[in-house]
Amino acid sequence: MIVLKSEREIKSMHEAGKILAACHREIANLIRPGVSSWDIEVFVDEFLRKHDAKPEQKGYKGYEYATCASINDEICHGFPRKTPLKDGDIVTIDMVVNYNGALADSAWSYAVGEVTRQTEKLLAVTKESLYRGIEQAKAGNRIGDIGYAIQSYVESEGFSVVRDFIGHGIGASIHEKPDVPHYGLPNRGTRLKEGMVFTIEPMVNVGVYQSKRDNNGWTARTADGKYSAQYEHTIAITKEGTIILTDQ
Ligand code: MF3
Ligand code: CO
Repeated sequence: MIVLKSEREIKSMHEAGKILAACHREIANLIRPGVSSWDIEVFVDEFLRKHDAKPEQKGYKGYEYATCASINDEICHGFPRKTPLKDGDIVTIDMVVNYNGALADSAWSYAVGEVTRQTEKLLAVTKESLYRGIEQAKAGNRIGDIGYAIQSYVESEGFSVVRDFIGHGIGASIHEKPDVPHYGLPNRGTRLKEGMVFTIEPMVNVGVYQSKRDNNGWTARTADGKYSAQYEHTIAITKEGTIILTDQ
């Protein structure tokens, strides 16, 4: 069942999203070789506390951190750690902010220092694929239109779209209906309407789309060890159009 949100609820989620966006803008300035994903974790924890917000991922299904920090071949749900980031790495910082009970979810990939041309292209294509998906996320369209726009673009650039993790409705808890795959066919699936709030969060791989899971039960990485990137926004379908609640 898809729980539709009122204008007031969407406004509250937008407040959470603005804090999240501000946090990502700060992270962009912090990331450089020598800084660790643990440093970012500590920064996020403090930033949210200062803004009277809470890290919703901490404690969610036993997850222990405010952020997911996925480095290089890690697709998602990487644990923050003290190893310094180095030139050529990419790190995806994903978090869910709770502000007065309203949630917003956004992930962003960051280049560390000098990265290869291929990595630069991976980041650019993944980000562009998110915005192509968002463009299709409007009342009257269907869920499949979003996945199709993302997949067809990503594959035309020679990369692949992760299947094992998808976007999701968000509201009272992090994961609600609808499911939002980043692959699929146009004119298929649930029709979009006002009041729907969900994430679009394509994970794009340089090589194969398949993933494997680490022994920690959480971290997913590419089956072939090649790099993976991700950009995620929470969006709301409203009568004024589609709003990106986590826009930076
Ligand atoms: N933010 C993630 C998403 O985009 C959810 C992470 S679940 C956690 O779906 F437990 F790892 F926090
Ligand atoms: Co997320």
